Amino acid sequence: MAQQIEKVGVLGAGLMGHGIAQVAAQSGYEVVLREVDDATLQKGIGRIEKQLARAVEKGKSSQEDADAVRGRIHGTVDYGELASCDLVIEAITESLPLKLEMWRELDGIVKPEAVFATNTSSLSVIDQAAATGRPERFVGLHYFNPAQVMKLVEVVRCVTTSDEAFETALQFARSEGKLAIPTKDKAGFIVNRLLVPYMLDAIRAFEEGVGSAGEIDEAMKAGAGHPMGPLTLADFVGLDTLGSICDVLFEEFRERRFAQPPTLRKMLSAGWFGRKSGIGFYDYSGETPSENTGI
Ligand code: CAA
Repeated sequence: MAQQIEKVGVLGAGLMGHGIAQVAAQSGYEVVLREVDDATLQKGIGRIEKQLARAVEKGKSSQEDADAVRGRIHGTVDYGELASCDLVIEAITESLPLKLEMWRELDGIVKPEAVFATNTSSLSVIDQAAATGRPERFVGLHYFNPAQVMKLVEVVRCVTTSDEAFETALQFARSEGKLAIPTKDKAGFIVNRLLVPYMLDAIRAFEEGVGSAGEIDEAMKAGAGHPMGPLTLADFVGLDTLGSICDVLFEEFRERRFAQPPTLRKMLSAGWFGRKSGIGFYDYSGETPSENTGI
């Protein structure tokens, strides 16, 4: 039987965390959103407020509903405010040491019956679960960017996850109107295992001169019906995030399809992380993105 969830803690108000917090608040949950400092927290909350205002402008939400959603989100920089959460979802940097440090601290603060969930895109769930005193109440809840729009949540069961915690996570994702797909704790789960080699292959095709970035992207949009071409998508996900996911997958499977192509490695050294840094396969400094001719 699933546990009752009323209050949700979200760790990290970045690209994924702010969206995860917004979706939970829109689904009626009380949300405690935690960031490391006030400036980063306000940036994340600002993004949520912008989305809520846009929904009101478009007539998709009433001002009253938008205010109620915003009112359910409580920002903090203090772990202590997560003590009474029923579910805590982490969406911090994709670094195992950082995640372990955070869980160890939270484990002593958050009530023992609460379920912990990681939004990791590639790290093993069991490695995080085992660092807590509640490995049976630990799952993966993997959202997709933008979390407000993308329908899927991969619900990951690791070897220690109890039936009750897994059912709680499945029902929670469904209660948010998401399509909850259960999957095993195997690096990359379902989507990234398939999507990451696809984006890397697009980078290799670009390296080999099969087409320009724009030609590759337009071809996949018009020829395969994808909403975004693979290089636009790589910029959208973040080339740094893509780089760390493929490093984890390569480490796990030792297969060339998961290896960073030299172009990606060089772009990361240059600090070209895609949309978030203003430049990647495209340059985002103008009105509309233009191809980065410096690659
Ligand atoms: N936050 C909230 N809402 C957003 C948004 C955001 N960041 N971006 C777009 N939207 C909303 C828009 O407001 C709009 O809503 P309405 O229909 O209510 O007006 C709707 O989404 C469509 O947006 P647009 O018309 O601006 O643009 P679009 O039709 O091109 O859609 C897109 C944008 C949804 C991002 C679409 O291009 C898309 O689906 N792209 C692929 C995204 C994808 O593959 N994501 C997965 C990445 S992999 C991942 O996340 C996993 C990982 O671990 C790395």
